[in-house]
Amino acid sequence: MSDKVIIFDTTLRDGEQSPGASMTKDEKVRIARQLERLKVDVIEAGFAASSEGDFQAISAVAAAVKDSIVCSLARANDKDITRAADALKAAKAKRIHAFLATSPLHMAVKLRMSPEEVLEQAKRSIRFARNLAEDIEFSAEDGYRSEMDFLCRVVEGVINEGATTINIPDTVGYATPELYGEFIKTLRTRVPNSDKAVWSVHCHNDLGMAVANSLAGVKIGGARQIECTINGLGERAGNTALEEIVMALRTRKDYFEMVCGIDATQIVPASKLVSQITGFVVQPNKAVVGANAFAHTSGIHQDGILKNRDTYEIMRAEDVGWAANKIVLGKLSGRNAFKQRLQELGIAIEAEADLNEAFVRFKTLADQKSEIFDEDIIAIMSDSAAAEEGEFYKFISLSQHSETGERPKSKVTFRVGDKEASSEAEGNGPVDASLNAIEEIVKSGAEQLLYSVNAITSGTQSQGEVTVRLAKGGRIVNGVGTDPDIIAASAKAYLSALNKLHDPSQAKLNAQMTP
Ligand code: KIV
Ligand code: ZN
Repeated sequence: MSDKVIIFDTTLRDGEQSPGASMTKDEKVRIARQLERLKVDVIEAGFAASSEGDFQAISAVAAAVKDSIVCSLARANDKDITRAADALKAAKAKRIHAFLATSPLHMAVKLRMSPEEVLEQAKRSIRFARNLAEDIEFSAEDGYRSEMDFLCRVVEGVINEGATTINIPDTVGYATPELYGEFIKTLRTRVPNSDKAVWSVHCHNDLGMAVANSLAGVKIGGARQIECTINGLGERAGNTALEEIVMALRTRKDYFEMVCGIDATQIVPASKLVSQITGFVVQPNKAVVGANAFAHTSGIHQDGILKNRDTYEIMRAEDVGWAANKIVLGKLSGRNAFKQRLQELGIAIEAEADLNEAFVRFKTLADQKSEIFDEDIIAIMSDSAAAEEGEFYKFISLSQHSETGERPKSKVTFRVGDKEASSEAEGNGPVDASLNAIEEIVKSGAEQLLYSVNAITSGTQSQGEVTVRLAKGGRIVNGVGTDPDIIAASAKAYLSALNKLHDPSQAKLNAQMTP
């Protein structure tokens, strides 16, 4: 049996199902490029049948990625599978991932199908998919809560029809490590053709055990593929965190005796990129990628670390891509220095005009803020990518007045399509006044679900990164804005969320919610 664990990244599909984490086509391509640098084996780029926007995004990722397999999710029916195959046309290596629920509860309540009907549909769908691709994954949704005898029949049936990977999700995060590992092992032992497919685990983190369950699926169960997301992004409590899986396999190789092909030095850049694009801030004490993960503040620890790093460190910060926060550029840095830093950060700019536009943004920022860090450059590039996609609402300027004892007032000027608009309003605070001013014109009526501010580097010189989450007509979107002035960052974040609400191609079906 191979000792290689396949890393299947689903940040762009299952991760995107977190409320508000929906990404635009260009954002998905940027993340996919970073996943490729990370050397993930499979990139699940989306769920092609969920929306026209997701179809286009998968097609763009398929065209951009050269080294990883690109995958699309599909419900187990001809229409979805055809849509997935069409979206993957440009891929160098493609995978169709069909899923169907197999637990008694899901079959009865969600699918309203009998177990025999589910078995037949699962087999039929894989037979159909095999005409369109060689590499076919079948997922038994809510697999861990399925009845063992029935699940064995389904898995045997779909392998006979040509499924090459069998995924057993713990869709609701109910499993515990030993039980889940044993569940996979029993399945592999009882399914007669189990050796004809790669077994895969996919765990949700509702009880905080997704990583432990996935590792047990490998160690006890014999699975050789782990489905995971950057920063553990995902619905509810999220998915298995890629960075934790990779570093557990590496750091405890003595125990797992398994390898994966990931370039761990790309982990922190990937984490920052996903956090920046989705607006999901990484908690400081998060393993591997949290800001405190390698910070030793207690005197005793520091003393030990200075004498010998191994006293309190099981991993090296630099091995996962942490670099000391260093000033990389400043006001006097030229276009070449800027271009070179972009290359070092792995940010590809194809057109000269895009580089010029990004450089103008850099210069504007350098006028406001003398020291420019990598995080600032990543934020500049996000703004440039959004501009390239043709924002409908675009921030121009803001002036604001607040004084103790008085109600703050704000005037915001922004573009609406090709017209300039300006409006003034009051509010409980300067941010509230600015967002009220924008609403005076847009009148979106969207409900605000979240507002958060985060300093992207350290110190009061830092740019503020604001996330605003809005809900309207059953859709939830996040907008992110950065600026040294947090009121301006708030207005940018609000306009960015409104842009996402404005784009109908971004409305999506959620894989789990639809029969
Ligand atoms: O959690 C789950 O069951 C899934 C499947 C669609 C693979 O995400
Ligand atoms: Zn899932």
